[in-house]
Amino acid sequence: NEIKIFSPATVANVSCGFDVLGFCLDSVGDEMVVRKIEKKGIYISHIEGFDLPYETEKNVAGVSALAMYEALDVDFGFEIEIYKNIKPGSGIGSSAASAVGSVFAMNELIGRPFNKTQLTEFAIKGEALASKCEHADNLAPALFGGFTLVKSVSPLKILELPTPSDLYATIIHPQIEIKTSESRGLLPNEVPLNDAITQWANLGSLVHALHTSDFDLIKSALTDVVVEPHRSKLIPLFNEVKGASLNAGALGAGISGSGPSIFTLSKGLEQANTVKEAMQSIYADSDIDFDIHVSKI
Ligand code: HSE
Repeated sequence: NEIKIFSPATVANVSCGFDVLGFCLDSVGDEMVVRKIEKKGIYISHIEGFDLPYETEKNVAGVSALAMYEALDVDFGFEIEIYKNIKPGSGIGSSAASAVGSVFAMNELIGRPFNKTQLTEFAIKGEALASKCEHADNLAPALFGGFTLVKSVSPLKILELPTPSDLYATIIHPQIEIKTSESRGLLPNEVPLNDAITQWANLGSLVHALHTSDFDLIKSALTDVVVEPHRSKLIPLFNEVKGASLNAGALGAGISGSGPSIFTLSKGLEQANTVKEAMQSIYADSDIDFDIHVSKI
């Protein structure tokens, strides 16, 4: 009647796939304990790691759990303990991990009545509380693993993409907070046609490269001409960190989700660790605190 789960961090956008593409990290994430209780309703009983609201309707994990609970007709309730490791506002899907964790755990406890797409539908409600907009590019990889593409939100259609073996991510998180809602506000409403052409050519190429394990194509497709020019201004030493990672052999680098974390992809663990050294040397020479992770995708 109780389950403990790991809810992973995720990288959304992946340069050319704003709001649609994402991948899952296997080494960073939150933990939650969810248990069935006699009292009807959803209750958050414990939160560790960061200061988050206990009121169910104000808590991302609570809101997604409520969305699922309303779809169930049961005479019991759920109690949720949240052990938060992913810092809110870090750009690696902190709210998505919360939103997904509660519904995934509840579904496991009651014999999996819902599939992963249905769980994503419930989790979108929690994600929207945090980012003020319904997007699923962090939720989908957190639930499905690997790379996912959100073909549409309404109706929700998620495609699972293959991950070439030997693909690693290095993620650096400078210790500043960027709210997704604010960094969305920076973006232009219109995109010049030439930029749109470049972006969808790159996104199509990246999807093809994932299917064919074409690392050279991954490298040339990891470019963002639409969002990065606007958001990178919010991230200290973004161009320096990106340049250092590419010089060290990364396949590509970009803003993780809405930032400030910066992700890079590398072929092989050794390369990912070399890239890690290069990235951290930039912040180590400044007064910016950071943390950094290497993760298999
Ligand atoms: N696609 C979203 C954005 C992800 O970049 O705003 C962040 O939650």
